[in-house]
Amino acid sequence: MKTKIISVDKNDGKLEEKLTEAAAIIKRGGLVVFPTETVYGLGADATNKEAAKKIFAAKGRPSDNPLIIHVSEAKHAEKYAFTSETYYLLAKHFMPGPLTVILKSRDSIPKETRGGLDTVAVRCPENLIARTLIALSGTPIAAPSANLSGSPSPTNAQHVIDDMNGRVDMIIDGGAADFGLESTIVKINADDSLTLLRPGKITVSDLLQVVDFVHVADAVTDKLAEGEIALSPGMKYRHYAPKAPVLLLDANADNAIKYIKNADSKNIAIISYTEDISDFKNELPGAAIFDFGNRDDEIQQAKLLFSILRTADKRDFEIIYAPLPKKDGVGLAIYNRMIRAAAHKIIKI
Ligand code: TXA
Ligand code: MG
Repeated sequence: MKTKIISVDKNDGKLEEKLTEAAAIIKRGGLVVFPTETVYGLGADATNKEAAKKIFAAKGRPSDNPLIIHVSEAKHAEKYAFTSETYYLLAKHFMPGPLTVILKSRDSIPKETRGGLDTVAVRCPENLIARTLIALSGTPIAAPSANLSGSPSPTNAQHVIDDMNGRVDMIIDGGAADFGLESTIVKINADDSLTLLRPGKITVSDLLQVVDFVHVADAVTDKLAEGEIALSPGMKYRHYAPKAPVLLLDANADNAIKYIKNADSKNIAIISYTEDISDFKNELPGAAIFDFGNRDDEIQQAKLLFSILRTADKRDFEIIYAPLPKKDGVGLAIYNRMIRAAAHKIIKI
């Protein structure tokens, strides 16, 4: 398949004109990659089961891993899912934005889109290109992250081209994603508390401004036990994994340096907070160093993480060392992605 690549500036006044062809592709059941404020999405008409199947094929994704449906206004969820007062409270505070809510599905969304589940994940993205495309298409757009299954989510058009060129009808280059990690996913429980299934930019404390209680699913921070059923099918797959093994060091820079010297590996990469870079460079001159932003700047780290993992993937490192993130605020989202990239290998020194 020949992929058409177009560049669109979200501040451009003529967005609708620029996105007419993309919307026509969605309407006729084709695949369009589009930017969102979190990561790029691989979109198709969520109400068309043949179109949904194409998404799974293009990504190489197991068909039991359901897709998020994207709507241009929070209230459009009504047509595709059973909403509730808590849904609208969340919508009022966080939509459009990087929050996905799991609701009981209506029959208007085919089983193929929702991986056979009776629930559906709904998100109203903030990115204007995404919202205009959905509105013009006149249908909700099902979209997983636009990466090949198992590689890090794409945060710019080059990442998408690397994975998806020739596999989709169109790629819309809308520049670098603002946040860089996927949306926060929550499920609303019978008592109107929430269960956090995937952490993102909307943090537990943000959610607690709206609801009384947020349970954090075990799989957010821990490995699923053998035989344990994942609340979110995506939790059971090894995600965000570069080819080289990643090892998370729960240590300060001095101790990390001692550990790395002692391990005596050859072709190594170190993901380092900006403050520690000169120490690593001095002590381990052979290592490739990736700047991960300042220690306390989780927003910057979120933006850099997937790019670093992708760049590292292109080079044949024997091992990649990275610091173990904190688990509070946006840090929880970074922690969650990094323990997956590291297949839960953490060394405490
Ligand atoms: O930021 C995002 O959410 C991006 C952009 C494109 O919107 N999308 C994204 O989609 O990250 P994806 O498919 O890569 O991740 C969606 C996750 C998967 O782990 C999937 O298992 C879970 O959401 N999910 C989808 N529907 C679900 C459902 N009905 N119940 C539980 N988990 C669900
Ligand atoms: Mg994904």
